[in-house]
Amino acid sequence: MEKAKYKRVILKLSGEALAGEKGFGISTSTVERVAHDIYDISKMGVQISIVVGGGNFWRGRDGVGMDRTTADHMGMLATVMNSLALQDALENLGVDVRVQTAIEMKEIAEPYIRRKAIRHLEKSRIVIFACGIGNSFFSTDTTAALRAAEIEAEVILLAKNVDGIYTADPNKDKNAVKYDEINYLDVINKGLTAMDTTAITMCMDNNIPIIVFGLNDRESIKKAITGESYGTIIK
Ligand code: GTP
Repeated sequence: MEKAKYKRVILKLSGEALAGEKGFGISTSTVERVAHDIYDISKMGVQISIVVGGGNFWRGRDGVGMDRTTADHMGMLATVMNSLALQDALENLGVDVRVQTAIEMKEIAEPYIRRKAIRHLEKSRIVIFACGIGNSFFSTDTTAALRAAEIEAEVILLAKNVDGIYTADPNKDKNAVKYDEINYLDVINKGLTAMDTTAITMCMDNNIPIIVFGLNDRESIKKAITGESYGTIIK
């Protein structure tokens, strides 16, 4: 069996990763596939926590003309739907999962309690962090950075539609070249849109590397976790 390079990780999934071909809402078959990939790495003894976005339902910044905080709250609720779908799919595979929400909704999930999250991970449960950090104006990328620092994750695995960071958008520019490695400040200075600036600086300040990779390949999460040269590493 392959050996994982990391013991405790945060996997950041965009909401779109759960939408499948429709590009909106939740595709149960896509969620099942992603859950399978996560199940595979949990069997490697890796402590996994997940931050999932909500863009398959709603993005706060899309609420043109709306109060931004209200729009962001709607986005946070979208992450809860995705978290519950992922919890359900993982539990169907026999994995223990705990969803923790940054905004209390006790009838649905546990509230976010750092010590409890770490305890769950130590007991090989997967923890899904929902509602972002519970504050408007912050993204789920920033949530991944903050939670990674709090629970002392060694790395953030940032799953995207594109298989790494390129010099330009590879869908628009055929001369775009992929970076194998890049430092935090270069991502910001070159205006590469891999992760938002708040999240990048948070990772930089706390020395947390980020592996950016594509979710299209079935084995992608496993490759990222075994440290195979894969995607782009920001450090
Ligand atoms: P241990 O303390 O290690 O035994 O963890 P545990 O999560 O198994 O124990 P706990 O008694 O805290 O939780 C039992 C179940 O209740 C788990 O499925 C939790 O996710 C769930 N649970 C715990 N607290 C809450 C809560 O505030 N709201 C909701 N909805 N579920 C909760």
